[in-house]
Amino acid sequence: MYIAHTIADLRAHLATARRPAFVPTMGNLHEGHIALVRQARPLGDATVASIFVNRLQFLPHEDFDTYPRTWDSDCEKLRAAGCDVLFAPDEQALYPEPQTCKVHPDPALADILEGHFRPGFFIGVCTVVMKLFQCVQPRVAVFGKKDYQQLMAIRHMVRQFALPIEIVGGETFRADDGLALSSRNGYLSEAESAEAVQLSMALQAMATALRSGERDLAAIEARAMQSLRARGWQPDYLVLRRRADLLTPSPGEPIVALGAARLGSTRLIDNLEIDT
Ligand code: PAF
Repeated sequence: MYIAHTIADLRAHLATARRPAFVPTMGNLHEGHIALVRQARPLGDATVASIFVNRLQFLPHEDFDTYPRTWDSDCEKLRAAGCDVLFAPDEQALYPEPQTCKVHPDPALADILEGHFRPGFFIGVCTVVMKLFQCVQPRVAVFGKKDYQQLMAIRHMVRQFALPIEIVGGETFRADDGLALSSRNGYLSEAESAEAVQLSMALQAMATALRSGERDLAAIEARAMQSLRARGWQPDYLVLRRRADLLTPSPGEPIVALGAARLGSTRLIDNLEIDT
């Protein structure tokens, strides 16, 4: 695996690649990331991953400084997964001057749910992804469905800017108990790790209610919030939304359940596409 730390080195190395397939990450890689790399491999002629903890997508009180940085094991995992090129710029290499020119995704998507609770988050994400796209110039890029709203914001950005990049969604990778893998799971205590699957179970309960014919979405959402609160969580939202744009669904439209909740000091997110 070739490791490039600068944009110039990366571009020189990828000069002959006709169809780079790209998986952007912030490192601290787990099986979920590695599954995305494996998914990307047959889609291009060079598999490229990036590791960059993007300051722009963290609020001042969030965990930018403490976000786990696990360079050696990340490299080992990427090599084992058959990644060809790792782009790992430092802040000076990717943001040599303050990044004042930013991508502002459509507020209708970017200011709700995650964007409501983490203002500016999708500006930070779309800006860095746009910049990484300019560096790697992929023809295909794979993003996990675990970050459902992020995947939608990236798809929308790519469509609106007519970027010649196919965006592929990778299924959420879950532990045996159903917990969605996340770098932030590492913050959980042993007791919290056992409890964490309850977020996914709350989404499952919402799906069950819908499938059994219940149509009062607000009541289903309120029950899910209450069930987590009763277990000591602090939920930000548990909602049933239209898959197409994450707005309120009309009867018969495909639905996704999305949830974000804090367990102790760790904020977890998850989602579930529901076929009724
Ligand atoms: O999902 C992530 O890890 C990050 O948001 C991404 C897409 C790598 C941008 O920093």
